[in-house]
Amino acid sequence: MKKAIIIGGSSGIGRDLAKILAENGYLVGVTARREERLACLSKEINGLFIKVIDVMKVDQARRLLEELIDEMGGVDLVVLNAGVLFNNKRFDWEEERVVIETNVLGFVAMAHIAMTYFYKQGKGHLVGISSIAALRGRANNPSYGASKAFVSNFLEGLRARAYRDHKDITITDIQPGFVNTDMIKGRKVFWAASSEKAAHQIYNAISKKRMHAYITKKWQLCALLLKWMPRSIYYKI
Ligand SMILES: NC(=O)c1ccc[n+]([C@@H]2O[C@H](COP(=O)([O-])OP(=O)(O)OC[C@H]3O[C@@H](n4cnc5c(N)ncnc54)[C@H](OP(=O)(O)O)[C@@H]3O)[C@@H](O)[C@H]2O)c1
Repeated sequence: MKKAIIIGGSSGIGRDLAKILAENGYLVGVTARREERLACLSKEINGLFIKVIDVMKVDQARRLLEELIDEMGGVDLVVLNAGVLFNNKRFDWEEERVVIETNVLGFVAMAHIAMTYFYKQGKGHLVGISSIAALRGRANNPSYGASKAFVSNFLEGLRARAYRDHKDITITDIQPGFVNTDMIKGRKVFWAASSEKAAHQIYNAISKKRMHAYITKKWQLCALLLKWMPRSIYYKI
């Protein structure tokens, strides 16, 4: 039986992906801060492993992830999904700090444990949830876009390292556009996919061991537009 751990699976995309992985025969472990949400999910997924982990508490989080891997008797797939986004128009320092500590420091801390384990095992699959926001700087949340650019670039570094070291480790960079979850509640967005649809497409990308996927697929078009849009237009939208 394959074993998967989702970091940040108490709601939204991570929660739906946990259900899909379980339906497809994985033994699943889910982590997050909200214990009551994790307990709820364990009523829906048979044999679910749960662990309360706050990725901002880096040292404790690293120890707890190792503990979870031990409890599950190993892991084949780790999905780094935990992330936060604030509509930080006023450029409040506290919000920028939390984004960096969660989406960058927390991400690397968890990726490091997963990759160290995969190196010892000689194989594994690491999936990072980046964003279309990685492609351009964003006026309302500069650290969020930058944190996701970090995630995508960091994942490529890990892939290059595994290739150099002849390790059978797959690294998948997922870049979603808008997905209807708590993260974007109340915001005016377009082309927002349901969390279930996004999770299904992420599962397909995992099954095919893809290096990269836009979620949903039509966001590939938007990515192209974003990449080539002149600043004079981009700064106005
Ligand atoms: N929704 C979108 O439009 C969209 C678009 C592109 C990318 N994404 C990315 O997709 C991922 C999932 O987001 P979502 O849309 O599903 O939003 P969500 O429902 O808010 O899920 C975020 C998850 O991250 C966990 N998390 C946040 N801070 C954490 C911390 N310090 N320690 C541990 N876990 C933490 C949350 O759990 P707890 O709060 O219980 O800790 C929750 O399970 C994020 O990385 C996000 O940046 C989302």
